[in-house]
Amino acid sequence: MLTKIAELLEEVKNYPINSAEALKDFHLKYLSKKGEISNLMPFIKEVAPEDRKTFGQKINELKNFAEDKFKNAQTEQEQAADAGAAAEFDLTLPIIPNELGTVHPLTLTRQRIIEIFERIGFNVEDGPEIEDDWHNFTALNFPPNHPAREMQDTFFIEKNPDILLRTHTSNVQIRLMERQKPPIRAIMPGRVFRNEAITARAHCIFHQVEGLYVDENVSLVDLKQTLFHFAKEMFGKDTKIRFRSSFFPFTEVSAEVDISCFICKGKGCNVCKQTGWVEILGCGMVDPNVLESCGIDSNRYTGFAFGMGIERIAMLKYNIRDLRLFTENDVRFLRQFANVV
Ligand code: DAH
Repeated sequence: MLTKIAELLEEVKNYPINSAEALKDFHLKYLSKKGEISNLMPFIKEVAPEDRKTFGQKINELKNFAEDKFKNAQTEQEQAADAGAAAEFDLTLPIIPNELGTVHPLTLTRQRIIEIFERIGFNVEDGPEIEDDWHNFTALNFPPNHPAREMQDTFFIEKNPDILLRTHTSNVQIRLMERQKPPIRAIMPGRVFRNEAITARAHCIFHQVEGLYVDENVSLVDLKQTLFHFAKEMFGKDTKIRFRSSFFPFTEVSAEVDISCFICKGKGCNVCKQTGWVEILGCGMVDPNVLESCGIDSNRYTGFAFGMGIERIAMLKYNIRDLRLFTENDVRFLRQFANVV
């Protein structure tokens, strides 16, 4: 009997478990209820009583060995299966890209304006959005109680009407001239505020770029050439400009500048309301009163100034019909500027 057990042990040892099938067969053959090891049990009765203990031990050893072998093989096969599943991840596949944001069309337009003026020697200057009456109005030659102040729909601070949200970037002209002597050549981009209802054509918060050039012998010709250069750089080399006489308290002479409609090339369309021209900015020669308010000798120095709305330039350039699109943050709108340079 013991020989039989030893033979079976040998057989179990040598049994090749190299597949899931083989593992099952192994269990069936040796470890199941009707397996060869269980089949040995009835033979205990036939063994001489004094040998029964050894016999029992041997069967146990055999059983333990077979069980260990089974468990080890089972674990090995499970691990191999896990590794196989991991190998199913194809590491050469391209990653799913993280979506990047895009530059806002107003930022894009502001950067383009800055770039154009920087190349012809203008610095970029900055000033406060919360301003006093002097820098927003008085120093800019707005007389007290002048209707032009009302035209600007100013947001005042209730407790102190001397403090307001700037209605234009012209305040930076004053701050710059107060702290710097000519020659001054700068552009001043920034955010401005007016108490207006929000519509397709107006907003209470918008953006402007102010320009200022003060030196000896600055003339209207310099202003015209500078703005002509800007118009061609911004809207294309065939762009024409025209000056229309206008009024601003801080300039004398004053003008509004139109460019030839670059959509219909001057023939007349919806954008230019059939006129062939669209307005892009206000400008003029700095009023001597303004220079004097800032302590600049108006007999020695002259200057020109201009101011344009960034929204307006962007709407013209990209043919955007509704101002509100700029602040709604609809990605379908914003993404269209992803590849615009
Ligand atoms: N400040 C004016 C506005 O908000 C724009 C402007 C017009 C600025 C003429 C200027 C200028 O510097 O010369 O409507």
